[in-house]
Amino acid sequence: MDHFQYKAGKLFCEDVAVRELAETYGTPLYVYSTATLVHHLNQIQEAFSEADPLICYSVKTNGNLSILKLMHQYGAGFDVTSNGELHRALAAGSAGQKIVFAGVGKTDLEQRRALSENVFLFNVESEAELVALGEVAGSMGRKAPVALRVNPDLPPKTHAKTDTSVKGVKFGLDIDTVLEVAQRFVNHPHLDICGLHMHLGSPILSVEPYKQGIAKAKTLVAALRGQGHPIRILNMGGGFGIHYRKKEALPAQAFAEVIVPAVRELGCKLVLEPGRFIAGNSGILVGRVIYTKESGGKLFVIQDAAMNDLIRPTLYDSFHRIWPVEPQAGFEVPPEDFEQPGENTVSVDVVGPVCESGDFLAKQRHLPPMHQGDLLAVFSAGAYGMSMSSNYNSRPRAAEILVDGTKHREIRRRETCEDLIANEIGFLNQ
Ligand code: LLP
Repeated sequence: MDHFQYKAGKLFCEDVAVRELAETYGTPLYVYSTATLVHHLNQIQEAFSEADPLICYSVKTNGNLSILKLMHQYGAGFDVTSNGELHRALAAGSAGQKIVFAGVGKTDLEQRRALSENVFLFNVESEAELVALGEVAGSMGRKAPVALRVNPDLPPKTHAKTDTSVKGVKFGLDIDTVLEVAQRFVNHPHLDICGLHMHLGSPILSVEPYKQGIAKAKTLVAALRGQGHPIRILNMGGGFGIHYRKKEALPAQAFAEVIVPAVRELGCKLVLEPGRFIAGNSGILVGRVIYTKESGGKLFVIQDAAMNDLIRPTLYDSFHRIWPVEPQAGFEVPPEDFEQPGENTVSVDVVGPVCESGDFLAKQRHLPPMHQGDLLAVFSAGAYGMSMSSNYNSRPRAAEILVDGTKHREIRRRETCEDLIANEIGFLNQ
């Protein structure tokens, strides 16, 4: 369910016509729906309510401060992976006690700041990190709360660049040696090893990996408790998939049915770190067609949203539904299946102005005939869109708009050319 709907052939975000937003704020433009963000957070809160979980919205997914504030206002905590993300979560009003800190390479500075903000949990990924965190906590006269992040060695199921739970990736403690490592930290004066963390990858469209992960988690929790670690937290990370092509995603309830009974059986507090499930279908990227052209027997639609705005298609071969914001007569209703040709659609590559052949949002896509000035909406762009954007080709980053009913607010202004050079002061000062 999302609040991007065509009404009489015009795309609306909640009660606002997307064309109006494009005309007011320019393109490329990220547009988010408040109701969709809140709906998806609620879905998780309700599905898992029996376990009374700490739901930590994953800041890396979309860290815009207004979105974080919305999450905070509706009861979420935060999953952060850098000092910058911690800074954002705190700036959004979160208490440290609702923040979990992940990442394979936390620095001394990050550990220190997180400890002084009293974060709920460090998800620790290596023996070296346990040693370092123990030393930092010791120097502050503190005891750091730790979940051991284990790499459960489950088969790949996402994309080579987003699988995190297979052997040979950098994430987590190796499941074959985690107990040996944990044994060396029993009764550590400055580490409270009280949790197990297991993020399985992203996005996941089946409950099977969670079933397998939970089975391994149960064995590990028992073994860690046997060593004397008071394990009271199970953090199952994020990973719940969304609709990118059609209606392929599972409801939150399906994951809850696998996870909730296990945490109750273990007597653990549940932590979840969802990102994409909340933000993904809550945002679109709007681009405007600059030119169309034919070359090498192919048709190209060149519009102003590029790989620097949304890198997922070229980085992961990701599929995002694309359709005109105000389609011409005969195309008012977007197709059920965007992968099949429709009546009178034309096969095109949707590309941006960046100087790389990898600059595309879609290849061989079936669209109505497009013309200069037309607006295109790229759907399911709310997660890992703006947060992975860059200034490549010295393109100022897009503006972000948050819609709430009939109201809309610019929650990040479009960057200017002055912004692009603002940090490069050395030469100018010479
Ligand atoms: N927790 C941890 C430890 C993670 O590494 C991630 C995502 C999450 C939670 C949130 O996962 P989610 O619920 O959003 O699936 N850029 C890629 C996705 C990278 C995911 C990184 N980790 C993409 O655009 O598909």
